[in-house]
Amino acid sequence: MTSEHLMQLIERAKDARERAYAPYSRFAVGAALLTTSNEVFCGCNVENLSYGLTSCAERNAVFAAVQAGQRRFTAVAVVADSKAPVTPCGACRQVLAEFGLDLVVISANLQGATYETGIAELLPRAREGILGT
Ligand code: THU
Repeated sequence: MTSEHLMQLIERAKDARERAYAPYSRFAVGAALLTTSNEVFCGCNVENLSYGLTSCAERNAVFAAVQAGQRRFTAVAVVADSKAPVTPCGACRQVLAEFGLDLVVISANLQGATYETGIAELLPRAREGILGT
């Protein structure tokens, strides 16, 4: 991915972040998921009075893509207003890993700091031990 495409994906995640519903944590997050066909699906975190029902930006982006018929992804950008760029939580790592272990994960904050890693590094042995496999 060129640095221009990377910046564009981060911009889409920033834009999605603007629509976060996070009245409890006040921590808005946006995610933008790039498909192999160069489409982008976005998500923001949606919180709930019953805190545990909160759904993260990354999972909402995956669910939007899958319901639109897309299952092949190359990269995901995650943006939050944090000192260090945030990486997906454990649940989101598992959901992202479901669709491929080559996914590039780009984290960014609003100050422009970025951190690039991969889903296989964030969630080693993602498919071992589940359903006895
Ligand atoms: N959150 C995300 O949406 N993605 C992340 O990568 C980190 C955490 C949300 C969940 C919750 O709404 C808020 O951020 C605080 O954890």
